[in-house]
Amino acid sequence: MDYFLYRNGQLHCEGVSVEEIAGAAGTPLYVYSAQTLRHHYRAIAAAFAELKPAICFAIKSLSNIHVLRLLAQEGAGFDVVSGGELFRAHEAGAEMAKVVYAGVGKTDQEITAALEAGIGYFNVESEAEFEELSRLAGRAGLPARVALRVNPDVDPKTHRYTTTGKRESKFGVDLERAEKFFQRFGGDEHARLDAIHLHIGSPVFSAQPYVEAITKALELIERLRRGGFTVNALDIGGGFGADYGLASSPSAMDYAARIVPLLRNSGLKIILEPGRQISANAGILLARVLYIKESGDKQFVIVDAAMTDLIRPALYEGYHFIWPTRSEMPPQRVAGFSLPDCRKVDVVGGVCESADFLAKDRMLPPVARGDLLAVYTAGAYGFAMSSQYNSRPRSAEVLVDGSQWRLIRRRETFDDLLMAERALE
Ligand code: LLP
Repeated sequence: MDYFLYRNGQLHCEGVSVEEIAGAAGTPLYVYSAQTLRHHYRAIAAAFAELKPAICFAIKSLSNIHVLRLLAQEGAGFDVVSGGELFRAHEAGAEMAKVVYAGVGKTDQEITAALEAGIGYFNVESEAEFEELSRLAGRAGLPARVALRVNPDVDPKTHRYTTTGKRESKFGVDLERAEKFFQRFGGDEHARLDAIHLHIGSPVFSAQPYVEAITKALELIERLRRGGFTVNALDIGGGFGADYGLASSPSAMDYAARIVPLLRNSGLKIILEPGRQISANAGILLARVLYIKESGDKQFVIVDAAMTDLIRPALYEGYHFIWPTRSEMPPQRVAGFSLPDCRKVDVVGGVCESADFLAKDRMLPPVARGDLLAVYTAGAYGFAMSSQYNSRPRSAEVLVDGSQWRLIRRRETFDDLLMAERALE
């Protein structure tokens, strides 16, 4: 579900033609729809309303401060995983009590900054990290609230690089160790351990792994309570899917229908950390066709965006629907379609790597130099994972709201490439 629609054969983001935006802001270009961001945030809030959860948007999926401000205005809290994300949340005007902080490698500086900011929960991933947090909290005289991240050993059936809740992954502590963890640290005077955190993977295209993981977590919480410990909150993490194809993901309602009944009588404060389900369908990447190259029976459509702008195809073989922004043929957002005028092509960038592709063996209508292509579902882990590899300045970002659009990140320049190096001269 998004607000990217063809009108008179031209792709619009809400009320604005994307070609008009690209003409003014250049390409490659990320274009986000404010309405879509709000729509997905509100859909999650409505689906889980009975639990009155804190919805902590995963900043890592789409970090632009203007997007964070928009979501903070909607009432969102934030899931952060670094000092940099903590800084972004703060600068976006987030209510810091609604910030949760995960990650296996928090540094002393990052922990101290989060203590000073007064965040809601530290999602602690190991015994050693807890000890360090307690020491720093005691030294600073700033109390910490802690959720123990547990690893429920559930298979989310997603790419192996984004599976996080299986025993062999580096995240959290296993369920057996969790009880010992509470016995050891449950009475700590500086860091108050009173919650459980989970994040099983991303994207998880079914509610079932959540049901399994939450059931295991509730059993653990029951055991802990029987052992005399107080458990006030359960953070079920993120990972809800987004539509990469047509209606390819469960909706917020579908997840909630299975998850809410498990939690409604738990007496727990519930925290959610959705990223992708809010941001993915809210963004497209616009790329201009530079060259068409025939090679044997293959056609390469070479565009000005590359793996440096969107690394998901290279890193996870991620699928992103692509279509020309000006097209009489309606977008065929289904895998494996075939139309007589379409041709199978590889859409590739200009980086010197064979992994530099946005799509492989993809049916597209005929395109020519100068045409504009829209790469869909690029709002999550798109710009946020971009790089300057091959010394390519990062693209600009635009936010559309109704009939208005504005630049929310300017295109980087060659001077930006050298900024941190020149400072040393
Ligand atoms: N909470 C924690 C602790 C996480 O590690 C993540 C994502 C999320 C929440 C948000 O997950 P989401 O709702 O956005 O799926 N770069 C990969 C995804 C990596 C996800 C990392 N953690 C991709 O492009 O698919």
